[in-house]
Amino acid sequence: MLRLLLAGSFLGSAEALFSGDVPVVSIKGIQGQVDMPLLGLGTWLYNSSVAEGAVTTAFGMGYRHVDTAAAYKNQDGVGRALSKTNLPRDEFFVTSKISGGLSASATEATADQCLEDLGLPYVDLMLIHFPSAWDGNFSGKKYRQEEWKALEAWAKSGKARAIGISHYCSRQLDDILEIATVPVAVNQVQYHVGMAQAGRLSTDDRDYMQSKGVLYQPFSPLCGPCDPPANKELITGKLVTDIGSVYNKTGAQVSLRWLVQQGLPAIPKSSTAVHLKENFEIFDFKLSEDEMSRLSAATSPAVGGGPNPTDSGDCGVTEEEVTLFT
Ligand SMILES: NC(=O)c1ccc[n+]([C@@H]2O[C@H](COP(=O)([O-])OP(=O)(O)OC[C@H]3O[C@@H](n4cnc5c(N)ncnc54)[C@H](OP(=O)(O)O)[C@@H]3O)[C@@H](O)[C@H]2O)c1
Repeated sequence: MLRLLLAGSFLGSAEALFSGDVPVVSIKGIQGQVDMPLLGLGTWLYNSSVAEGAVTTAFGMGYRHVDTAAAYKNQDGVGRALSKTNLPRDEFFVTSKISGGLSASATEATADQCLEDLGLPYVDLMLIHFPSAWDGNFSGKKYRQEEWKALEAWAKSGKARAIGISHYCSRQLDDILEIATVPVAVNQVQYHVGMAQAGRLSTDDRDYMQSKGVLYQPFSPLCGPCDPPANKELITGKLVTDIGSVYNKTGAQVSLRWLVQQGLPAIPKSSTAVHLKENFEIFDFKLSEDEMSRLSAATSPAVGGGPNPTDSGDCGVTEEEVTLFT
């Protein structure tokens, strides 16, 4: 079993130090609660061989959680790295994603292909990557509901422990909740220091998601896709490095700590060993209330690309206005 600690207990304890262990947050699975480690490794834009190398290095350090997707085209590399660890399947957590806008048969086929590429019998979490197809086609309630129902059926056969969505806004979540027979575990959206005050246009109605029991899972925790220099602000920026100097921690560690201290899992991406190690070492210090407030009050870096439905699933933007990133 995962040697992990509950986020609830960790969050309540100022002095906790968990060498080698990572706290977890519980998400709503198909058959009860599923524990997701609060820290994982992102793999977006990595090819198979970079992903294999990064997962191998990270898991060698103690990471037990990786985030990938069919669209990343690197799941074979992730799978090879996982296989090399020789870890029992219940000792690590894998998230994958299938594209939005898929028919029922394509949903099943794409999700099955993810398992085949990963070389795994099941994933811990399977997400629908986007509320429509990438090109904006197959958008709307009817298509969202069809794909969700097909994903439920697939997961219920034992191929995913939990299922969820990504880039959905509250209206789009409601489409799913109307017909869901298993919990929507997670909505994965862009969220990092700089966005807490960004409002509904950027933050996917976080409170609404959480009121429905859907874990708000941040992606791009270091603002990876932000345009320079904003993509360095959460690493070498004054706000995060000043706070980090109090604890002998780096800016990146402070940025990640701000998320996990709220009970939100962080999935920073790195293929650099020293960065992977740094990102893992965020559970041996605690930010003060004042520091958390200052980080929450930050208004930059803004959401990468500006508030838009591709990053936020913004409900204020109509289906027709959805802009595209591929
Ligand atoms: N659901 C979705 O549609 C979606 C969208 C975007 C992202 N995601 C997920 O979220 C993950 C993370 O987001 P992201 O890939 O956009 O980027 P990110 O994690 O916000 O930032 C990654 C960048 O930060 C650098 N970095 C990482 N740790 C560092 C450290 N300690 N010190 C200095 N630099 C550091 C990395 O470079 P080095 O390699 O040099 O360390 C890389 O350039 C993705 O990989 C993906 O799994 C999901």
